[in-house]
Amino acid sequence: MSSIKHVAIIMDGNGRWANKRFRPRIWGHVRGSGVVSDIVKAADEIGLKALTMYAFSTENWSRPIEEVSTLFKLLKKFLIKEKQRIISNNIKFKVIGEIQNLPYETVSLIKEMESLTQEATGLQLTFAFNYGGRAEILRAVNSFQMSQPNRLMTESDLNNLMYRPETGDVDLMIRTGGEQRISNFLLWQMAYAELYFTPTKWPDFSQSEFKKIIEHVSCRERRFGNVCSQDALEQSIEKAENNKTAFVKGVNL
Ligand code: FPP
Repeated sequence: MSSIKHVAIIMDGNGRWANKRFRPRIWGHVRGSGVVSDIVKAADEIGLKALTMYAFSTENWSRPIEEVSTLFKLLKKFLIKEKQRIISNNIKFKVIGEIQNLPYETVSLIKEMESLTQEATGLQLTFAFNYGGRAEILRAVNSFQMSQPNRLMTESDLNNLMYRPETGDVDLMIRTGGEQRISNFLLWQMAYAELYFTPTKWPDFSQSEFKKIIEHVSCRERRFGNVCSQDALEQSIEKAENNKTAFVKGVNL
């Protein structure tokens, strides 16, 4: 079984894809939104536990207003078009990011989809919308300080205060479009993620490339002694703890 359970995707390259075809940038986003549906379908088929997609970053507000408005419209269209499929496939949907100040109609569609799928037990599908990784961490730290000012924060406290703690650490982050950055995406959750950068622009990304990347990264991990990365990580944390204890006690290592 693959050790890749949570995949995060930065869907980049829409604008360049459109420009290359002498079309406006928004055309790339429109084509890209169709690919979002395809990849959700593929993630569901292969039995991923979680899929998190970066649909709108806090930095994206600086884009031309028509482009921002297109991205909002595409989110709404997706929620309307995919509603039945998401429900019947037992997909649990959530948006992470600062959504409370978004237009009323967008927020109510998001809330409706979240509540209709809250009992679902299948793929945990997350859209990061008006999202920033640093802001997510700061929000968690501030909320902890307000509620428990007299205690030091632990890793598990911080984990539990993330927007969607149940999706856990990211195992694999894929970025399309050829750039090699993580752009303020899931900074806390990506601490041990495998990173995969493909030159394919998002509108050309396909289910088959997605599945091949997961297969390729699973193999890359299997080469490291037949243990999955999470097991390896836990073993090495345990070993480090044992060494530290022995060292402190003066045991000859
Ligand atoms: C980056 O491409 C992509 C985005 C800022 C938005 C991604 C959004 C979608 C794929 C469509 C939204 C759909 C749904 C269903 C929410 P870019 O424009 O920065 O590309 P460039 O680097 O070529 O300029």
